Amino acid sequence: MNSTAADALRSDPRVAEAKRLLREAVLEHGQGLNRAQPPRPELEAGYQDQLQRLEAARGGKPIWPYLSSGLGNGPWVELADGSVKLDMIGGIGVHGAGHSHPAILDAAVDAALEDTVMQGNLQQHPPSLQMCERLLEVARRQGASLDHCMLSTSGAMANENALKIALHSAAPADRVLAFEHAFAGRSLAMAAITDRPKYREGLPLTLDVDYLPFLDPNDPAGSQQRAVDQLQQLLARHPGRYGAFWAEPIAGEGGYYPGSRAFFAALCQPLREAGIPIIFDEIQSFSRLSQPFAFQHYGLDEFADIVTVGKITQVCATLYGQRFKPKAPILSQTFTGSSSSIAAGLAMLRELEQADCFGPDGANLKRHRYFAAHFQALAEKYPGAVRGPYGEGMMIAFTPGDGRFETAKWFVDTMYAEGLLGFICGSEPARVRFLPSPVTTTTEHIDAAVQLLTGVVERYARGEMSKEG
Ligand SMILES: Cc1ncc(COP(=O)(O)O)c(C=O)c1O
Repeated sequence: MNSTAADALRSDPRVAEAKRLLREAVLEHGQGLNRAQPPRPELEAGYQDQLQRLEAARGGKPIWPYLSSGLGNGPWVELADGSVKLDMIGGIGVHGAGHSHPAILDAAVDAALEDTVMQGNLQQHPPSLQMCERLLEVARRQGASLDHCMLSTSGAMANENALKIALHSAAPADRVLAFEHAFAGRSLAMAAITDRPKYREGLPLTLDVDYLPFLDPNDPAGSQQRAVDQLQQLLARHPGRYGAFWAEPIAGEGGYYPGSRAFFAALCQPLREAGIPIIFDEIQSFSRLSQPFAFQHYGLDEFADIVTVGKITQVCATLYGQRFKPKAPILSQTFTGSSSSIAAGLAMLRELEQADCFGPDGANLKRHRYFAAHFQALAEKYPGAVRGPYGEGMMIAFTPGDGRFETAKWFVDTMYAEGLLGFICGSEPARVRFLPSPVTTTTEHIDAAVQLLTGVVERYARGEMSKEG
């Protein structure tokens, strides 16, 4: 016998039939969720009660009054108050196949059949190996020297691992270079890199970080020159002290500012010459541009020393080249991920390929153009209310009104009430961003989002925000 008892379980016809029945039931109950709906009055009191309990338990109001019911249909999601929303933010880039997707359901059922809910570094299983190999295979497609992969449970932890790998290899260098408005996560070290003073208020500074200006779309050549000059000055001021260069190839939380091959190459070349490891944080950008990795989209493969992914991959990971392999046991955690997140991550990678997301004329760029044309039309019709579009691929944003945070918040909250989920990014100007599911978003979904958004823009143009204020 060359198969295990578990193989026999997985190929048991009862398992296949149970999965078929589950898919059928989910589809049947979810298919009516196909347009924005207000809350159901009879569910509202119970919903408010749960929200208050949540606020008390977590020690503060949640960002949104959002509690899912547990069922959805593509980008449409039902909440526990019976309302239905069009989800164009996907948990800030996590729900890449929308809600209640059959392939993700199947993967979660396969994972539920495993002997444990969590997987770890001590006791591993084949799907973790497959996930690592798959990510490495995708990352190396255009020639990047990435040989190893370490799974972890959050983007911040994947980034911590990346930073440890870089600093360890460059020891005793101890300073870090990053971009203005960078966002790297919420651990102490990542809070030091993240360029938002409020996010580290009252916290010790654990790293010395120096910042470079990012590419300015209004002055590409000038901003590139300023960034290169700044880099040269810093390298001269702190020779041998930089152990990592940290970059999101397209700025996410910072406001959806795309990078470019020329801009990054101009910085990465001198970094390479100075022997400073280059880290690309792809936790938000993975799978959203013309190639799976944004560094591939910008043709920066030769510079990708260490790369992190998360969010849409369901389980987070740090990829790095052989020459960065740590010489001491500095990497490990109890958990690598849950069985279901690893299985769902593998399914997500398959679905992304099957949805033809990539390529210069792939679905990501096509849908961006479609969405962008609508934004442009809105911006022309309501010039004081909408500027943009900004971003690239399946990372798209607009600047609402005067670009103040309060205005972006009014837009996001009013969109939420109308049934459209988008979120804020950037500051001065603050923007409203969308991270549509690359696997499932259709032009019909984009039309529905634009219709809901137009209602909100019209309300703003009629002065409703100032009346409420
Ligand atoms: C670019 C980037 N890096 C890191 C993180 C942190 O990931 P996590 O929230 O999973 O720790 C995020 C999350 O928004 C991100 O956008």
